[in-house]
Amino acid sequence: MKITYYGHACFLLETMDNKILFDPFISPNVLAKEIDVDAIEADYILLSHGHEDHVADAESIARRTGATIVAAFEITTWYGQKGIEALWPMNLGGQKQFSFGLVKFVNAVHSSVLPDGTYGGNPGGFVIENEEGCIYFAGDTALSKDMELIRDRFQLDWAILPIGDNFTMGVDDAIQACNLIGCDRVLGMHYDTFPYIEIDKDAAEMSFKKAKKELVLLEIGAERQLN
Ligand code: NI
Ligand code: MN
Repeated sequence: MKITYYGHACFLLETMDNKILFDPFISPNVLAKEIDVDAIEADYILLSHGHEDHVADAESIARRTGATIVAAFEITTWYGQKGIEALWPMNLGGQKQFSFGLVKFVNAVHSSVLPDGTYGGNPGGFVIENEEGCIYFAGDTALSKDMELIRDRFQLDWAILPIGDNFTMGVDDAIQACNLIGCDRVLGMHYDTFPYIEIDKDAAEMSFKKAKKELVLLEIGAERQLN
């Protein structure tokens, strides 16, 4: 598995010859201005919830690449009304075997509305499991005891967790989440994009280190092999 960071909560996961894009918010993100959104290839676009800072570029990338949008039923319905045909609706607790592996749409504690005010259903996160590994993309979420259910079912290699606080978990809650999910290797997301979620990155890394866990904060545009 290889991951590329495009800023905020957007990652491209390459696994089993597929490209899976999470929560594309690139063109409105001044921190990601070096990223050419029109050069990003994707086979699937996984959306954790409907907020603008997670879906902004999903429509244009889906139209250009033909990638299938995988998201809550209410979100795929909204894209269907825009004329996008490659859609895969899910809802919380459901899992499905895709060409690149198993996807389970797991609980997130947050809210979800689409940019035009349309109800977005429940927000969620994704666990992806295949022969190359197992990762958890939490989406926007609070710390929740439900995360233990993930540890009971999966052996995670990596977790992608929000650490920006204010709208989601912060650093301390993300460290606690590691214990609940049984995974000590974290890629941080959802920090520094807006003044509300600016963090001290050195302090965050130090806090993880003290808790004997690894926090990786990728530069925007950087890639990393996961394993
Ligand atoms: Ni959100
Ligand atoms: Mn968000």
